[in-house]
Amino acid sequence: MISRSLACRRIVAPSLRNSSRSSLSQFGGCWGYTSQAASSLLQAFEPSVHRTCRVEDEYADVDWDNLGFGLMPTDYMYQMKCTENGTFERGQVRPYGNVELSPSAGVLNYGQGLFEGLKAHRKENGSLLLFRPDQNAIRMKVGADRMCMPAPSVEQFVDAVRETALANKRWVPPPGKGSLYMRPLLMGSGPVLGLAPAPEFTFLIYASPVRNYFKEGTAPLNLYIEDEFDRASRGGTGGVKSITNYAPVLKALARAKSRGFSDVLYLDSVVKNNLEEVSSCNIFVLKGNVLSTPATNGTILSGITRKSIIEISRDLGYQVEERAVPVEELMEAEEVFCTGTAVVVAPVGSVTSKDKRIEFKTGAQTACGRLYDILVGIQTGHIKDKYGWVVEIN
Ligand code: COI
Repeated sequence: MISRSLACRRIVAPSLRNSSRSSLSQFGGCWGYTSQAASSLLQAFEPSVHRTCRVEDEYADVDWDNLGFGLMPTDYMYQMKCTENGTFERGQVRPYGNVELSPSAGVLNYGQGLFEGLKAHRKENGSLLLFRPDQNAIRMKVGADRMCMPAPSVEQFVDAVRETALANKRWVPPPGKGSLYMRPLLMGSGPVLGLAPAPEFTFLIYASPVRNYFKEGTAPLNLYIEDEFDRASRGGTGGVKSITNYAPVLKALARAKSRGFSDVLYLDSVVKNNLEEVSSCNIFVLKGNVLSTPATNGTILSGITRKSIIEISRDLGYQVEERAVPVEELMEAEEVFCTGTAVVVAPVGSVTSKDKRIEFKTGAQTACGRLYDILVGIQTGHIKDKYGWVVEIN
């Protein structure tokens, strides 16, 4: 039986990384745990031990009022490996730190990798709420099939998310101040030279406390319609969360940002006239009672927030249409908004195509505002979850 104060001292140890380097040693210019510190941390970790921490240890030393969407490393990450036979062994929570990879790892050479994103919110009663983690698990399975990788089972994925969230509980912002963003990764970690699936795969989850994704905070976004680069092509991987979908948008994104825009809106790569996605989120267009969003036809990511907003909107009486949405329709819309795990539900104030700028309704009395309130209300436990989406863990 671990005494209360000892348990607290043990679980708090990783946080010394920020305030004191006493339990750390430096390897080749990087800070890492001494093996002794790491093994005592591993021994010390048990969810039940974590829950016995003193009140003053319940929160990490973070300026909760000034969180953005930058990486703030937490105490622990999760790691699980799988060899060619396709079965993931039991994973473990371990201290957060660098991972070692062969220079010929499949992920480094051929981009064999997927990522996911999901959030844990802290409730007033201290427990944590996960939002639809099974959907991330299912999406990872679909993506893994496309990228020739084995995937953890839904149960393994959800358990790993639960363990990662609980191990990092003191990094989950106080209610109303943000959430703990969790980033599951699946990658070909084994060595390959010729083009082939890797012989070993690693599933990892790391976490970071976050609040608003855009520097605009919750202010409306100004989007730029990209006319040179495409985000995804027919038959490609745009519909799954492959890591290879994201670096290619950086050039257009940097260019748009340098011109003062918040983000880029991509068009389809065939007729170059239908809306696809924004760099990191899905898009919706509202006119009258009709809420339209591009259909998930292979080039559009099947967002979990997108799916949830569609369901909530239908329940509110909107006619939701998933189909091709031409630019002309966007130009005549009353409201436009984006959805995603990181961005949540973000209003779009304007869209610019070449020299033409169109503005949309934003503010309190909008469908976007109402949908945001309902979704976040469910995610944070302030609105009854009639859908069964929220998983409470403690
Ligand atoms: C998310 O919303 O979780 C994403 O994966 C988008 C990412 C580019 C921040």
